[in-house]
Amino acid sequence: MDVSELESIEMDLLVQAMQKRHGYDFSQYAPASLKRRAHLLANQLECKSLTGLTERMLHEPELLSRLLEGLTVPMSDMFRDPAMFRALRDQVFPLLASYPHINIWQAGCAHGQEVYSLAILLEEAGLYERTQIFATDLSDRALQRASDGIYPAQEAQQWSRNYQAAGGKRSLADYCSAGYKLLKLNQRLRRNVTFAVHNLATDGVFCEAHLILCRNVLIYFSNSLQNRALSLFRDSLVRAGFLCLGVRENMDLSPVAQAFVPFIDPERIYRLASHLDDLVE
Ligand SMILES: C[S@@+](CC[C@H](N)C(=O)[O-])C[C@H]1O[C@@H](n2cnc3c(N)ncnc32)[C@H](O)[C@@H]1O
Repeated sequence: MDVSELESIEMDLLVQAMQKRHGYDFSQYAPASLKRRAHLLANQLECKSLTGLTERMLHEPELLSRLLEGLTVPMSDMFRDPAMFRALRDQVFPLLASYPHINIWQAGCAHGQEVYSLAILLEEAGLYERTQIFATDLSDRALQRASDGIYPAQEAQQWSRNYQAAGGKRSLADYCSAGYKLLKLNQRLRRNVTFAVHNLATDGVFCEAHLILCRNVLIYFSNSLQNRALSLFRDSLVRAGFLCLGVRENMDLSPVAQAFVPFIDPERIYRLASHLDDLVE
């Protein structure tokens, strides 16, 4: 038996252990990237092998948050893919403006940079007061970071450029306070945000949303788990609601695609197709 066969047995055991010990199902994640992250985590925790990592997972329950964060990828940026945020601001927000109350579900929010980006653009569009943002993630540790809204100050320049490219009307500095090494987002931006744990692999419909963002999450899922998540989004949207995926993601191969029409294709913004013809905009 060669090394890669052995490793694949070790990976199967690790995934089983995570499911049986902690109830988290990673069996439908894309195997190559999951394996890469498991190795990284094993190194960080000074385990000699994936089996060593499984052993710690089984016997050290206090490691769970760390394991969840390590096995997923909580990387994000403010106004990541600024063209998508500009499209939201210019083409989606004017349509959302016709609702007296707006629900936005941000699934897989990681450390929250997208949540604050959305809040800023909604505020500038005059929509934030009537918006509720539900920001969810599998990882409670990521959600805690998101709620704190504190980031390395070295990101500020890039984020500021992203904000301008997204059509921001002011200066990003107006929304945060910067120290020597850290930048803290204005906590007022959180006033209409609810952070909550939600697992796209096992949990159900989350809320009735006018807009759902789930960007750079499906890319880590197998086709069947992507279908599950897309079905959840379809069932959570109001009629003619909007769904944003990441720029490297699409739903072309999913049977759920027939429920949607592309709204702004290059930015991966879709709209629920049902009753679209009945709408007068
Ligand atoms: C790369 S980040 C994406 C962050 C942000 N949406 C963006 O595009 O910048 C992926 C996030 O998806 C979350 N995630 C992974 N599997 C998940 C699942 N089954 N349910 C909910 N969130 C999940 C991870 O914890 C991580 O925070």
